[in-house]
Amino acid sequence: MNTIMRDITSGPTPLLENKRILLIVAGGIAAVKVPDLIRRLRERGASVRCILTKGGENFVTPLTLASLSGEKCYQDLFSLTDEAEMGHIRLSREADIILVAPATADIMAKMTAGLADDLATTALLATDKPVMIAPSMNVMMWTHPATQANLQILQTRDVRIVGPGAGDLACGEVGDGRMAEVPEIIAALARFFAKAQNRGPLSGFKALVTSGPTHEPIDPVRYIANRSSGKQGHAIATALNEMGAAVTLVSGPTQEPDPDGVEIIHVETAAQMLKACQSALPADIAVCAAAVADWSVEEAAQKIKKGSNAPALKLASNPDILATLSKPGKTRPALVIGFAAETENLIENAKLKRAKKNADWIVANDVSARTGTFGGDSNTVHLITAEGVENWPTLKKRAVAERLAERIAKFVERHL
Ligand code: C5P
Repeated sequence: MNTIMRDITSGPTPLLENKRILLIVAGGIAAVKVPDLIRRLRERGASVRCILTKGGENFVTPLTLASLSGEKCYQDLFSLTDEAEMGHIRLSREADIILVAPATADIMAKMTAGLADDLATTALLATDKPVMIAPSMNVMMWTHPATQANLQILQTRDVRIVGPGAGDLACGEVGDGRMAEVPEIIAALARFFAKAQNRGPLSGFKALVTSGPTHEPIDPVRYIANRSSGKQGHAIATALNEMGAAVTLVSGPTQEPDPDGVEIIHVETAAQMLKACQSALPADIAVCAAAVADWSVEEAAQKIKKGSNAPALKLASNPDILATLSKPGKTRPALVIGFAAETENLIENAKLKRAKKNADWIVANDVSARTGTFGGDSNTVHLITAEGVENWPTLKKRAVAERLAERIAKFVERHL
């Protein structure tokens, strides 16, 4: 078992040590978070060199960036001194990654179009290095089809995206568009470097994840199902894998694509899911995110004919996969995490579930129709552990997965 476990969110972390980050600061109010970002990056051993756009100058001064980064802050494309000292091409290449934070709608559009009308956009066009952006803008600008189309194009060009989150925006509106918080950006960079180095805080560990609904057949053509999309479970499998874990994902029927780099076992019923999970043991970590049907139906061998009376379905209880995996014994994973999807008394029910199923942690989420959790892209969760309850903000399911994976990495570092 690997013992080089690292907390990737706090303290000096070798994942960022000696990494050269070219930080492009564009003109958004979130630029006020950049001084803190630079401090935290440098605390982790990274070196930071800044390019400040004309828009960015309205929110943060070049002197602040130069003082905190300990390097000259670059601003002009046609600066004779800068060109003589460094040259914009060299500037764009002497980095391990270019981070654009905040990334405005404008700079995203320029990146998509390949414009190069200032130092920042020229560096972005001239670079041969990976690029990560932390978008930040008004919710309408973020959801505008133009920005979303640009985002898609940038993603196909392998530009990494961190955030944005939902919440109060500086313009007074509420919604998606807040720049990711500094720890999230640092975690995204750490994940990037972990992946690039093919090692992460979970390398050497094995994780089992269940995802999606189960289908319980009634007859050869009908089944009982539920509204689980599998988005959260699949995102967790991806996040754990990105942190270096070997992941087996046992998934019920979903529309989600199979995540890269993850072993996937497709199943339909709860009974098949349990069997697949048991075949994947031993594992260090189990995350049961599947919405397993509580009952199976005594299946008719032939399609049930429509008659004058509606048929009665004979139900039988399904095995509880989480409770089975959590049973004390040689094959119990060291950390077993369940989900509690509730529509009322969320925390109380989740605490009871944690005890009843002998899980270590429960991720509790409200799945009332008004929350849009089932099938939606966001989730508001509470993490229930032996120590208490953590209330997390509303996050994209991918961000929930990444945060959970980080918590798992911390657990592994301390206990395994
Ligand atoms: O009891 P309830 O379905 O609310 O519990 C939810 C948690 O238990 C989830 O983690 C789910 O994946 C797991 N579960 C399971 N097998 C079942 C029922 C639920 O693993 N048959």
